[in-house]
Amino acid sequence: MDLVNVLHMNAGNRECSYANSSILQRNLMLKSRNVLEESIKNYSTHQGFSKCFKLADLGCSCGPNTYLFVSNIVKIVHAVCQKNNFKTPDEFQVFLNDLPTNDFNTLFKMAPSFNLELENRECMEKNVNCFISGVAGSFFTRLFPSKSLHFVHSSSSVHWLSQVPDNLLDYNNGNIHMANLSPRRVCQAYLTQFTKDFTTFLCMRSEEIIPNGRMVLTLPGRSSADHTIKDGCFMFRLLAKSLLDMSAEGLFYEEDITSFNLPFYTPCTDELEAIIESESSFSIDRFETFEVKWDMREEDEIMKSGESSGKFIARTIRAVTESLVASHFGSTYMDQIFERCAMLVTEHLSRPKPENLFNIVISLIKK
Ligand SMILES: C[S@@+](CC[C@H](N)C(=O)[O-])C[C@H]1O[C@@H](n2cnc3c(N)ncnc32)[C@H](O)[C@@H]1O
Repeated sequence: MDLVNVLHMNAGNRECSYANSSILQRNLMLKSRNVLEESIKNYSTHQGFSKCFKLADLGCSCGPNTYLFVSNIVKIVHAVCQKNNFKTPDEFQVFLNDLPTNDFNTLFKMAPSFNLELENRECMEKNVNCFISGVAGSFFTRLFPSKSLHFVHSSSSVHWLSQVPDNLLDYNNGNIHMANLSPRRVCQAYLTQFTKDFTTFLCMRSEEIIPNGRMVLTLPGRSSADHTIKDGCFMFRLLAKSLLDMSAEGLFYEEDITSFNLPFYTPCTDELEAIIESESSFSIDRFETFEVKWDMREEDEIMKSGESSGKFIARTIRAVTESLVASHFGSTYMDQIFERCAMLVTEHLSRPKPENLFNIVISLIKK
């Protein structure tokens, strides 16, 4: 699969678009805000801001979350400067990066209202000039000139691999990702691919970020090196089950499922730390973990929306995986696949201890 030209979050503004189905990722971004704040505070204390603060959001996708990050960072920089009597940057240059098939058109259409909102912010002591541009390309390649960025951010993105690991065919026991029941050699193949990709990612960024610049990454992970523990990715096991049930009914060939594997990996903290140390361009400033429920809405919100948690979670996963599922199985059965999935999720959630999603947030300093 040519991932660079296939993978994209669901475009536009329909119900299962990423823009309308990414509350989970929004919540993850909010949960890591304190690390972002600390990182900016620490950066400014050590070297202060230049006239133009240059930053990039990698794997920005398209939707309110993208601008939530930009607005957060502008607010945080202003708050830190005000509190410490530092000079605020006059300008922010923000690069929004994603793969070329990302819905940049919708993203750019949202920019004017975002700028207007910034202008009306009462918390800003002066006007903010925020110059936003898009950068299409894989973050496993060079995206920016040497030493041109002060700060890099990425949320819910760097767990994506550059490709499905080699040699997985027929080995994954009916799973479509590295699941708790995947054979050991499948897990090894996923870890090998992640190690290669994340090393490349760090290496590319180390060229682009200035010395002492910062990078804050939030990504889903595993709470233990033991891959047989249930790690919160139950959704993908249930997506696999929906596909298998449909193949039992003759809608797909079983070989279609054995040859389908999702290109992402959820590392444990030790694995991440080992790769960062071995690549050696960055030192670790902070390393935190937290768990969230897949449906973090309050009871009354769920009632008011009329959408059950099963449907809500299946929609979240559809917005992220549909491009890959449709490119492999064809688009005819998308509704059926994700409706089945929603029912299986509802069943899973009725169990006494449904799995939470485990996340890692790291703040790095360019050496
Ligand atoms: C789940 S979305 C996260 C979007 C946003 N950061 C958020 O928190 O809502 C993951 C994004 O990473 C992007 N992505 C995956 N692999 C990528 C790569 N190699 N280069 C750039 N972007 C990539 C996907 O296209 C997708 O838009």
